[in-house]
Amino acid sequence: MQSVSDIKENTEPLDFNKIREDFPIFRQSMNGSPLVFLDSAASAQKPQQVIDTIREVYENEYANVHRGLYKISELLTHRYEGVRDIICNYINAANSHEIIFTRNATESINLIANSFGRSFLKKGDEIVITELEHHANIVPWQLLREEKGIVIKVAPINDIGDVIMSEFEKILGPRTKLVAVSHMSNVLGTVLPVVEITKMAHSVGAKVLIDGCQSVTHIPVDVKEIGCDFFVFSGHKLYGPSGVGVLYGREDLLEKMPPYMGGGDMISSVTFEKSTWANFPHKFEAGTPAIVQVIGLGAAIEYINSIGLKQISIHENNLLEYATPKLLNIDGLRLIGKSINKASVLSFTLDFAHPHDIATIIDRSGVAVRAGHHCAQPLMERMDIPATVRASIGMYNDYNDIDSLIEAINVVHEIFN
Ligand code: ALA
Repeated sequence: MQSVSDIKENTEPLDFNKIREDFPIFRQSMNGSPLVFLDSAASAQKPQQVIDTIREVYENEYANVHRGLYKISELLTHRYEGVRDIICNYINAANSHEIIFTRNATESINLIANSFGRSFLKKGDEIVITELEHHANIVPWQLLREEKGIVIKVAPINDIGDVIMSEFEKILGPRTKLVAVSHMSNVLGTVLPVVEITKMAHSVGAKVLIDGCQSVTHIPVDVKEIGCDFFVFSGHKLYGPSGVGVLYGREDLLEKMPPYMGGGDMISSVTFEKSTWANFPHKFEAGTPAIVQVIGLGAAIEYINSIGLKQISIHENNLLEYATPKLLNIDGLRLIGKSINKASVLSFTLDFAHPHDIATIIDRSGVAVRAGHHCAQPLMERMDIPATVRASIGMYNDYNDIDSLIEAINVVHEIFN
């Protein structure tokens, strides 16, 4: 059996059955049918290469990092720190020390709110977000608003799910200090024009934070080209382990920002009177980090690189284009999110059944989708719906998976009509 590691970049066409073979979860059936996993926007499945890396580290290489003056600790420290280089290359950051390990994207945003926000924002300063944000890019700013009296301004989206750029521009002004937006909506799939957004924000002197949780999995990301000041994502959506996330920050900002949490590993010296901090990135990484998860994330990115994110992206777009007209053909189906700049996500409602019922019935055919508000309640309100069913595509999905989804929805139709 050829594995993905044998597939060379730019070999055309890619056989995505081989990719599926790298994911052991697909060896099982679900409710008597092959597992059709269409919930990668919530969390992606893990390839054997990531699972093996994690197991091997625990079996043969494990020790704490940054502390041991013995061989396995030094070797593992080297391997752990090397993941910063892998991520730096993956998102084209200028320096590996601009990569900070966190627990997930949510913690990365909270780090920025608590460090940058608490230190550099004051009463009346404005943060601009959009109507399509995930709660992780709303609630931390509300907590900061309670403490500091900052103002949160929300840029509207139109009915198909694009940010209305003329309105976004009008909201910006001399008091805007931070623009914090998703790169790609987890509900609508809309890919935001982040280069343009960053330019506009910088023209009024604001810093820019991009939530790349969904985009890093589907779209090649270049933080230098975007020009953003911060970029965050989680490991578990990127085919890596849960429990690890990333904050990229521009070094001149990280230099000025105070620590977010205190403890071991983030200090230079400690006395009862006063402590001093290590340099970044370690200044922001108090306590024993998620050592094995970080190394697992490195393995996940190497796995993606072995296939090529561009090729993954083309494959996923082909599936999106295949699925969209088939869904629109179903009586009573409303597609939520119709931007022409969208990727990998199909959210919908059926006018005869609640999303939770739909997801439960679809599951009987072995098709896993998410139903609910997707941690985006203000977006649900904007679209005037309580919830959606969301099918989200990963690199291991194929045309049969889309056909199975459509068949399963037809069963829902038969039950309710
Ligand atoms: N943010 C994840 C989702 O969209 C959990 O499902």
